[in-house]
Amino acid sequence: MGRMSSSCAFCSGTFSPDELLSLDGASSPVCPACYELAEPSTDAASLTVGPIQRADLELVLAWRNNPVIYEHFAEQDGPIQWADHVDWFESRPPTRRDYVASYDGRRIGVVAVDASDFVSIYIAELTLWGEGLATRLLDWLTTRFHSMRDLQAEIHANNERSQRLFERCGFERTNREDDWYVYAYVGDSQ
Ligand SMILES: CC(C)(COP(=O)(O)OP(=O)(O)OC[C@H]1O[C@@H](n2cnc3c(N)ncnc32)[C@H](O)[C@@H]1OP(=O)(O)O)[C@@H](O)C(=O)NCCC(=O)NCCS
Repeated sequence: MGRMSSSCAFCSGTFSPDELLSLDGASSPVCPACYELAEPSTDAASLTVGPIQRADLELVLAWRNNPVIYEHFAEQDGPIQWADHVDWFESRPPTRRDYVASYDGRRIGVVAVDASDFVSIYIAELTLWGEGLATRLLDWLTTRFHSMRDLQAEIHANNERSQRLFERCGFERTNREDDWYVYAYVGDSQ
């Protein structure tokens, strides 16, 4: 029953086979958003995303326990214990998607959309900040999800770097709740 479907080799999303594209270096075809991300029009190095795996958890915990990263998270105000981290991983709602980004063959950060369509992103390898990687990842996420989700973000009023990132990628500020701005994805058609 139903139409045949296939998975993207990178993000594991489900697509009809004729939507998928062959990419050099990928074992199987990938979706258009992953194709665009991994094969940039400039000579930038390859950036890919894959769903977070159990084997990523140690590294992701180390990233999430860096105050330079978590000071910007609305839902975290201190280091996380291993058991709570595993609990978080295992009890994620099925509509939540967490992707680990790899650049030049190594893992460098995370981009995610939660069950309420809120987007989060960080580049954990701090020396890579300012090279456009978050912009490429957020563009990937909006391309991949904007037709199925009402993408939003919650960004601290002090986090101007992130505000500029989200505005560059098609988000607009809609609201302010205390020290947090709410952004909604409107695309680049204004
Ligand atoms: C916010 C964060 C994700 C930005 O990551 P980043 O990789 O430095 O972002 P980018 O490189 O895409 O953009 C940063 C700057 O580099 C510039 N840049 C340099 N080269 C670029 C290129 N090739 N393409 C696009 N932008 C480029 C951008 O214009 C941007 O300048 P601006 O800040 O003056 O607008 C990162 O600082 C981070 O992880 N912060 C901590 C966690 C956090 O705050 N997350 C967001 C919570 S909502």
